[in-house]
Amino acid sequence: MPYIRETILTTVDAAGTVHIAPLGIIEDGDGWVVAPFRPSRTLDNLAATGIAVVSYTDDPLVFAGCLTGRREWPLTPVEGCAVPRLEAALAHDVLAVERVTEDATRPRFHCRVAASASHAPFTGLNRARAAVLELAILVSRLTMLPRDKIESEVAYLRIAIDKTGGAAERQAWGWLMERVEAHLAEGD
Ligand SMILES: Cc1cc2nc3c(=O)[nH]c(=O)nc-3n(C[C@H](O)[C@H](O)[C@H](O)COP(=O)(O)O)c2cc1C
Repeated sequence: MPYIRETILTTVDAAGTVHIAPLGIIEDGDGWVVAPFRPSRTLDNLAATGIAVVSYTDDPLVFAGCLTGRREWPLTPVEGCAVPRLEAALAHDVLAVERVTEDATRPRFHCRVAASASHAPFTGLNRARAAVLELAILVSRLTMLPRDKIESEVAYLRIAIDKTGGAAERQAWGWLMERVEAHLAEGD
């Protein structure tokens, strides 16, 4: 399996309206593959403009927020690029689509890195942040997972939140758990 980096990806449509979504970008030599499932605004925007900005952040609130309808995160312009980045980005890359592998379910946009910049230091790993990221992925797949798998994953991930999380990690966890609990209640 290839290396995948979890990012916050910004794109714009033909009218310049910005869209923000968490996406895992797939290492591809010196470049990256962006692979959105259909239907997706990210996919439509990439097809229309051929440009994305990937923001590298470890802010758990942004990942959890985007998954729970809170997409209004501060953005800031990128010099020479029509697509902004996340203000909270520790670093970003501008990705330019070079070619597309078409697919009925999940097309692959093969991108080169057109520009890069760093903005703030990375301050180290934290288990609770990693747990929020895992729960965000789980929330994006709730309808595909059996109840016992969801419950056992949550129980395991919660240990890291309880032992190592700060206020932001607990807030992000709470937003995501509202989605998990609503989904499990539907099945009762
Ligand atoms: C860490 C993380 C990685 C994700 N990676 C992908 C991905 O590679 N492809 C995808 O279609 N959705 C991915 N998702 C789910 C998308 O963020 C979500 O479906 C999003 O709303 C995409 O649809 P949109 O472009 O219409 O907003 C990921 C979610 C998370 C939390």
